[in-house]
Amino acid sequence: MIEYLEEIDSTNTYLLQKSRTEHLPHLYTVCAKAQTAGRGQRGNGWESEPGKNLSFSTIFDTHEMDPSRLWKLSMLTALAVAETLRVYHLPAEIKWPNDIYVGDRKICGILIENVLQGSAIQCSIAGIGLNVNQEVFVSNAPNPVSMKQLTGCDYDLDEVLEHIVSEMERLWTIGDDELRADYMHYLYRREGSWLWRQVEVCSAPMMIEQQPAADAFRASIEDITPLGQLVLRLESGEQRVYHFKEVKYII
Ligand code: BTN
Repeated sequence: MIEYLEEIDSTNTYLLQKSRTEHLPHLYTVCAKAQTAGRGQRGNGWESEPGKNLSFSTIFDTHEMDPSRLWKLSMLTALAVAETLRVYHLPAEIKWPNDIYVGDRKICGILIENVLQGSAIQCSIAGIGLNVNQEVFVSNAPNPVSMKQLTGCDYDLDEVLEHIVSEMERLWTIGDDELRADYMHYLYRREGSWLWRQVEVCSAPMMIEQQPAADAFRASIEDITPLGQLVLRLESGEQRVYHFKEVKYII
């Protein structure tokens, strides 16, 4: 079921609040024409010209899922978008953990948040921002791109949305091995040796600051663990395993 809104601060915030007061069915989706305070990863904002792009959030019934399996949601949502974009003949890839890229440019960002009841997970919310018909980006987002910028065509937002939601529905039912294999198939820079930079996360009482550590290094992607960690093999032969946000691709 899809709920359409003209304007909201953030579809993720809206669904988080709604899920605390009422029971929402699995895959309940809310899509807004405009967000006044769209949220991105790492506390960043999310730019989207009103009426031009898809800004939506979908709820997942994860309350019986072991927290160690939540990585499934990242794979599933990223795959649903990447596979939909391929239907529109766009060669989308997934940049670990769950950005969607076409070439070296970001076309979609995903923000997953879990709703807790005490220490248990009640449900999870996947917020998806897909750049569809926007022609100019004004924020300092590093390398945004839209479907229209890539092809010159205008797209029907409802049609793209329905495609992604039904893809999420299908992917929820497939086995973990198949999901993982599909994810690996779509992985950005899956082959070859690339430059990376380790990120140091330092927490202060009121802020979390991330700064790139000094040295870039060259490595290839060896694997993704069942928890979603990235396994890199350096040219020296050393293996390194990173959690989310501990390492960045240099693009
Ligand atoms: C990122 O920084 O890459 C994640 C961006 C996620 C943006 C989407 S738009 C719909 C949903 N509502 C939000 O406030 N954020 C997500």
